[in-house]
Amino acid sequence: MKKTFFALMACLVLAGAGCVGGTAPTTTPVTAEPKETPVFIGLSLGTLREERWATDRDFIIERAKQLGAVVNVENANSDADKQMEQAEKLINQGVQVLIVVPHDGEKAAAIVERAHKAGVKVIAYDRLIKNSDLDLYVSFDSVKVGRMEAEAVVAVAPKGDYAYVGGAETDNNATLLKNGTMQILQPKVDSGDIKLVVDEFTPNWQPDLAYKTVKNYLATGKKLDGVIAANDGTAFGAIQALKEKGLAGKVPVSGQDAELSACQRLVDGTQTVTVYKPIRSLADQAVNLAIALAKDRAPTVNSVTNNGKIDVPSFMIDPVAVTKDNLMDTVVKDGFHSYDEIYGASR
Ligand code: BGC
Repeated sequence: MKKTFFALMACLVLAGAGCVGGTAPTTTPVTAEPKETPVFIGLSLGTLREERWATDRDFIIERAKQLGAVVNVENANSDADKQMEQAEKLINQGVQVLIVVPHDGEKAAAIVERAHKAGVKVIAYDRLIKNSDLDLYVSFDSVKVGRMEAEAVVAVAPKGDYAYVGGAETDNNATLLKNGTMQILQPKVDSGDIKLVVDEFTPNWQPDLAYKTVKNYLATGKKLDGVIAANDGTAFGAIQALKEKGLAGKVPVSGQDAELSACQRLVDGTQTVTVYKPIRSLADQAVNLAIALAKDRAPTVNSVTNNGKIDVPSFMIDPVAVTKDNLMDTVVKDGFHSYDEIYGASR
């Protein structure tokens, strides 16, 4: 990849020389050397299960290309040990900065330690790496995401029996989401308006496990008035279980990520809300910051996040609650999904 980049630079420099005076160069050819070596970034993904991660990856690669940086990518398939091995591989390949989406926010501390030994800086992307000397963190406020999810469900069902179908316990975001949700639910639980009848994490955020959680509860014959599902994947699982009991569209369900299928469910009325996280901005920031770190420039951040060990300089981006009423002004307006994809007859 480096070779391709050098070749490209050489072409550009030569083309530039050829342009002077509008004639082809007649003197000795210029020995083209880029002024700077391209920054080499490693991207270590915890998973590619959800639709968003492939988009994150593509946006990161696109931004890096724009800025003349090179990215090598690894995907750990929800396996913390594999992610460690892959991070080591990237470090050995000579990356200057690692952007990590940790599968396990605690275990990934070892990646930071290993990277630092090799003089490689680490940015936690979307998910925090805890108890480590992490260099930077870029994300969305997941507590706010949790509040947005709960608010939208409570707006439809202010009272009743609720299921909380959480994210993966290994992911700090799942805890933050739960905290945010409980900021809205707890006063209602205390007043007796809402009863939490299901409250579970979902290993690896797996939709089939979320399906089982809701299916098992409904199998008892008890009623359900609202479902707070941590993301669109778990929402899909929950809605499948509701569907089997003829309850899809009758019980409000939340999610996050603005996955295409979730946006379609908003239109169909089987999902109440999704939370859109503008991941192009996140990807752009991550690459900007990676380049700053690689060049020892002060990174531009807008907050700090305590990870249990240090206050990590952070760049946080605002999430947006999306219902069928503002799909056009958010997801479609941003080009995240097109009108046709969401509403089109071909879907
Ligand atoms: C992300 C969500 C995603 C989930 C499952 C979380 O850390 O914030 O956007 O749906 O992981 O991959």
